[in-house]
Amino acid sequence: MGVATIREEAVDCVDFDALEEEARAKLPAPSFAFCATGADDEITARENVTAWQRMRLRPHVLCDISNVDTSVRLLGNQVATPIMIAPMGRHRMFHTEGERATARGATAAGALYVFATSANVLLEDAAAERGSAPQWFQLYMWADRNGLEPLIDRVAAAGYRALVLTVDNQVYGSSPRQMRAPFIPSPDIRSVNMPGAPMARTAYDPENQGKVLFPTTWRDLEWLVKRAPMDVVVKGVQRGDDAARCVELGAKAVIVSNHGGRHLDTAMATADVLGDVVDAVAGKAEVYVDGGIRRGTDILKALSIGARAVLIGRPILWGLATRGANGVQAVLEHLREELVRAMQLSGVPRLAEAKRDLVVR
Ligand SMILES: Cc1cc2nc3c(=O)[nH]c(=O)nc-3n(C[C@H](O)[C@H](O)[C@H](O)COP(=O)(O)O)c2cc1C
Repeated sequence: MGVATIREEAVDCVDFDALEEEARAKLPAPSFAFCATGADDEITARENVTAWQRMRLRPHVLCDISNVDTSVRLLGNQVATPIMIAPMGRHRMFHTEGERATARGATAAGALYVFATSANVLLEDAAAERGSAPQWFQLYMWADRNGLEPLIDRVAAAGYRALVLTVDNQVYGSSPRQMRAPFIPSPDIRSVNMPGAPMARTAYDPENQGKVLFPTTWRDLEWLVKRAPMDVVVKGVQRGDDAARCVELGAKAVIVSNHGGRHLDTAMATADVLGDVVDAVAGKAEVYVDGGIRRGTDILKALSIGARAVLIGRPILWGLATRGANGVQAVLEHLREELVRAMQLSGVPRLAEAKRDLVVR
């Protein structure tokens, strides 16, 4: 199947519902449940989506919108689009090629890819799919720190340009949905970049429940900023005061995220906390946001409130599961096309012109 056919199919979706349904039909039930789930009653996972939908736009008129520019610099990396791939582990649960296919799709779409610690392919193999395109590495600081420093050095040697430290799930949440469709670990799907390359277990595996898997404190952030030979980004920040402290300790960017509502249910929707974080950071670092972003208009709202870029989670896995690398590319390009249209219809041809007064709650 050629890319053009695939792109048409994806672009024809008025939203991602059809793609999600296709992924549901294609995937084993435990893989689909792992992707779809939120924690507990899935309130935050749902509200992440509806909070963007609730916001309204107040477009400018009579602007010259014939040339729209979506390019942006992210920590010094020039990229064609402010839409990144969120770090997600275990892509071989969705496609045999795993993160290699994701990396290739991101490259084709000109998007920045944040590769996850709990990926199922070697970080060097994913980097090879990127060529010179910038790629960042999401880091978990596991309890037994053995192997962490060699991993950081390997990441640097492979050319990753930033470390994204995830801080919102020292313990994993609980997923009734995954309990009803449990993933049975298999020797074929391993966390190959972690010490001992253990068989992949989902976040909701009974083995993982109740354990402080990733104990990470302010002291660890200070240590990492000194130790890492690259910029450090903190992912999972949900408050202005925490964001300001991250920046004081040397983080170059923060990602407003509640992990897609997958761990602490009833955490506020990211759309509703973004403004607080942007204000607290006060231009001293870059701010990105993820959670429930499904439309170009959602992206324009996020950028208007002050995010420099957004990250997309589950829709990437729907694309990966149904069409491999081409599906990942199609999802990213579909969102970028929607963003361009939203910018044109709002009279904002350049991202820097998207200001907070474009959005009303
Ligand atoms: C299947 C899956 C696995 C994930 N794994 C990770 C991970 O390993 N590290 C991490 O920082 N975030 C992880 N996340 C969270 C995403 O990075 C992101 O914050 C979230 O999915 C964004 O919300 P969205 O899916 O509504 O777009 C995962 C999300 C999903 C759906």
